[in-house]
Amino acid sequence: MAAVLRPFHPADLPAIYRICVLTGAAGGDATALYRNPDLLPHVYAGPYPVADPGLSFVVADSRGVLGYVVATADTLAFEEWLDAHWWPTLRAQYPVTADPGDGTEDHVLVRRIHEWVPTPDTLYDTHPAHLHIDLLPRAQGQGWGRRLVDALAEALRERGVTGLHLGVDARNTGAIAFYDRVGFRPARTHDWGQTLVLDL
Ligand SMILES: CC(C)(COP(=O)(O)OP(=O)(O)OC[C@H]1O[C@@H](n2cnc3c(N)ncnc32)[C@H](O)[C@@H]1OP(=O)(O)O)[C@@H](O)C(=O)NCCC(=O)NCCS
Repeated sequence: MAAVLRPFHPADLPAIYRICVLTGAAGGDATALYRNPDLLPHVYAGPYPVADPGLSFVVADSRGVLGYVVATADTLAFEEWLDAHWWPTLRAQYPVTADPGDGTEDHVLVRRIHEWVPTPDTLYDTHPAHLHIDLLPRAQGQGWGRRLVDALAEALRERGVTGLHLGVDARNTGAIAFYDRVGFRPARTHDWGQTLVLDL
C-alpha cells in the first residue's frame, strides 16, 4: 500500500511513541539519551491525541506509521488538562531523581513532568495552537511534512483558530528550514532555540 495521510487512530500510539524517540534529539535519534523510552513521548506526543484526537494526523503505509503531527488548539487549556488528567499518574510513577551522570536525560524530563505549571502567555492571544511534527528518515523530504501541516492548519481553521506556534531547537537546522518553507516566521529567540508562529 502506498503511504497515505489520515486522521489519528488509537492504534497509532505505539508507533508515535517510537518515532518521537527516533527523531527526538534535535531531529536525530534520541534512543541513547533515555533509559525509559516512554518519557519523551509522554511529554511531547502522547497527551495530544488523548486530549483531542481530532487534531492529530499520521502518514502510514503497510509497514506502519511513518510520521505524525500532534497538536492542541488551545495551549493554556491543554496545559490545564495535563495538570488535571495527564501529569498526576506520571508524577506518582516517576519520582524526581538525581542526574546519574552517565549522559542520560531521564531525570530532566521527570523534573519537567513534576514542575510543569499551566502558564498564560500573550503569544496565545494570537497563536493559541501548538504542534509537534516528526517523520521517520525514510519518509522525510517527500512533501509529507508540508501535507501534515496543511491538514492540521485546515482542521484548526475549521474551529476558527487564528494562529499556531511551536518551539524548535537551534541545532535542528533542517526543521528550521522546513518551517520557513511552509510559512512559519520567528517570534522569539531563546537560549535553546526559537519560537515560530504561523498565521492561519
Ligand atoms: C522537519 C520535518 C517534519 C520536515 O518534513 P519533510 O516531509 O521532510 O519536509 P517536506 O518534504 O514536506 O518539505 C517541505 C519544504 O521544506 C523544505 N525542507 C524540508 N526539510 C528540509 C531540510 N532539511 N533542509 C532544507 N529544506 C528543507 C523542502 O525543501 C520543502 O520545500 P519546498 O516545498 O519549498 O520545495 C521532517 O524532516 C522530520 O520529521 N525531521 C525529523 C524530526 C524533526 O526535526 N521534527 C521537528 C522538530 S521541531
